[in-house]
Amino acid sequence: MTEPGAPASGPRVVLGVSGGIAAYKACEVLRRFTESGHDVTVVPTAAALRFVGAPTWAALSGKPVGDDVWTDVHRVPHVRIGQEADLVVVAPATADVLAKAAHGLADDLLTNTLLTARCPVVMAPAMHTEMWENAATRANVATLRSRGIVVLEPAEGRLTGADTGKGRLPEPAEIVAAALDVLGRGGAAGGAEGDDLAGRHVVVSAGGTREYLDPVRFLGNRSSGRQGVALARTAAARGARVTLVAANVELADPAGVSVVRVETTAELREAVLAASADADAVVMAAAPADFRPASTSATKIKKDDDGGGAEVHLVQNPDILAELAAERPHPGLVVVGFAAETGDERGSVLEHARAKLARKGCDLLVVNDVSGGKVFGSEDNEAVVLDRDGGSATVPLGSKSALAHVVWDQVASRWAASSSTNQTP
Ligand code: CTP
Repeated sequence: MTEPGAPASGPRVVLGVSGGIAAYKACEVLRRFTESGHDVTVVPTAAALRFVGAPTWAALSGKPVGDDVWTDVHRVPHVRIGQEADLVVVAPATADVLAKAAHGLADDLLTNTLLTARCPVVMAPAMHTEMWENAATRANVATLRSRGIVVLEPAEGRLTGADTGKGRLPEPAEIVAAALDVLGRGGAAGGAEGDDLAGRHVVVSAGGTREYLDPVRFLGNRSSGRQGVALARTAAARGARVTLVAANVELADPAGVSVVRVETTAELREAVLAASADADAVVMAAAPADFRPASTSATKIKKDDDGGGAEVHLVQNPDILAELAAERPHPGLVVVGFAAETGDERGSVLEHARAKLARKGCDLLVVNDVSGGKVFGSEDNEAVVLDRDGGSATVPLGSKSALAHVVWDQVASRWAASSSTNQTP
């Protein structure tokens, strides 16, 4: 961790801030970048400085801050800042800055920087719903995306006043995660893949289900939902329409993803089956409870005064993955499961995993070796992705986003294989 003000040696990030009320949230974006060792130069617009002043940006970044091209002219900041950047993030990006960037206008330091940057650029829009839906903004966003600039989908929710709708700045944690994903892949969203999942609908389940004993007690598990959220975020960044069915996930919603919140395995099953009716892929990254109490008490269970114990009778939950794979709402659906395995005297991790892939009938199985308590709740993951035709891809220890990209690569190659099989010669 780097203290604010101390020189950072990590990747050079330019944080562009344009003039919207959400400019204050960019302070948190800045903090997250500096605390993870990035060297951040903040370039606000003049309008942004009316919302949050230069001293705040200077103090948090440890660098001088300016918005015009007339200061320090001998150091040619209007060209140098963009040229030297490894990543440019604009948060919030107003309708005005999107329009200027789409048309190559350069009337201040930020728009000059956008014209000179050769590195990946991520823009996190924030504006009122009407502005986001305006035909001019739609066209500008399409132009920017066609040039490889990553324009995140705004979130839905409370806007500046009492109004709500689409146009809210995605959560700072999500902006930074999406930006680091782009930086890590050295290019536009999904790197070489660009928006290769565009036109596809994918469903991802995440988190751990809760099975209630009574109104206040449940049986649950430790799944954080991080891997599922990374899958949802990366699919959205690669252009897919994404439904995330989130079971008790306490992480920020990924930008541009439609989130369905559930608690129990029965609710998870219902939401996944409903969303998969028109889906091209379903990835079951959630940890649904295998068992639930045979009955749930409508009132809080009381203990007896005699100090006696209590018995819980459990019944098995339906296996959603196996059901999807067996019933296939439509033939083109790619079904992906996850398996946490340990080797034992009956077989290795991969032998158990191959047997599970066959038993569940899914197309791909992402296998985590959990010997010694690895993986749970961690930021990183390593895995092997097995496919039903005998192939496999090994993913070395790395971020959950890196594993997510490999999963989408494998899903996309199954789509490509099935469309070439279906083509008439
Ligand atoms: N799964 C599911 N419905 C359940 C339980 C699990 O869809 N009721 C899915 C999970 O989302 C995951 C995969 O099945 O994709 C995990 O399989 P599971 O049989 O639960 O694996 P383990 O818990 O490792 O099972 P086992 O102890 O049987 O090896």
